[in-house]
Amino acid sequence: MNRETQVIEANIKLHSRLSDDYNSCEPHFRKENIKKVRSKIESLINFTSEKKLLDLGCGTGFMIDICRDLFDEIHGVDVTQKMLDKVKIDSASKIILHNQDTGKFDLHRSSFDLVTGYSFLHHLFDVKPTIETAFKALKTGGVFYADLDPNFYFWDQIDQLQRDGSYHSIVKREIEMVTYKDEDILNKFGVPCETFNDAEYGKNRLGGFKEEVITEILEKVGFSDINFFYHWFVGQGHLINNEDFDGDIRFKHASVMEEYLLNALPLSKSLFKYVGFTARK
Ligand SMILES: C[S@@+](CC[C@H](N)C(=O)[O-])C[C@H]1O[C@@H](n2cnc3c(N)ncnc32)[C@H](O)[C@@H]1O
Repeated sequence: MNRETQVIEANIKLHSRLSDDYNSCEPHFRKENIKKVRSKIESLINFTSEKKLLDLGCGTGFMIDICRDLFDEIHGVDVTQKMLDKVKIDSASKIILHNQDTGKFDLHRSSFDLVTGYSFLHHLFDVKPTIETAFKALKTGGVFYADLDPNFYFWDQIDQLQRDGSYHSIVKREIEMVTYKDEDILNKFGVPCETFNDAEYGKNRLGGFKEEVITEILEKVGFSDINFFYHWFVGQGHLINNEDFDGDIRFKHASVMEEYLLNALPLSKSLFKYVGFTARK
């Protein structure tokens, strides 16, 4: 079995095991994040005229659920049938699912207005074939939106810290989530660390995404108008969920901090956990 096939097999094993609990244990399903993604999508469909969406690595339907009332037709592609089995299919929005490797998906060329990949690209051994899929699937002028991929510069900093170091709880939490998540998955779901780390290849084997590397691949494939962004600064979740303050004040604190740190880019690059981008065909 070659390395690419091993990574796909690891993804199927991991996600088949996680599928029942996936929506309740993944933090991106929290309402504050759903609101953020929904507003991003709304801003994107303002400048795309029609309504056909392709969601790559769709899983249990996170993006499909956010978008089901916004599009006339939605296609979801995923290699794990047990994840696809969880997608809610209704008649109001036409949803078509494909159990396939996104690097090989080649249906409905030049027919989608928007292609998405949420918390997905870092599960691939090589992102290029899937970026090519997105390009082929889009209409000219259509947009590819990928998000919640690990920021190399954040992962790199956290990797250098000691598990038993005397840091603030915000930092200690990140060390556990970033460097020792494989142990957590082993304890909770019995999935071997090796399988988990292969399944999150771009994160746990390659160390995350660098803006300059991904931008170069997007340009080579033919995308232009590339807009890379950084989000979820260290401790943002802690601020938002800090019950010492009222809800409104917590969000205000978080948004002031976020604006401040975004203004300080590229100096603040390593403080943001995730990256995303939009790119136009
Ligand atoms: C972390 S989940 C993200 C699911 C969904 N996008 C979300 O945001 O909840 C990653 C998904 O990618 C799928 N996947 C991994 N490699 C794939 C590949 N080569 N082709 C298609 N799907 C793949 C997995 O089966 C899994 O459902």
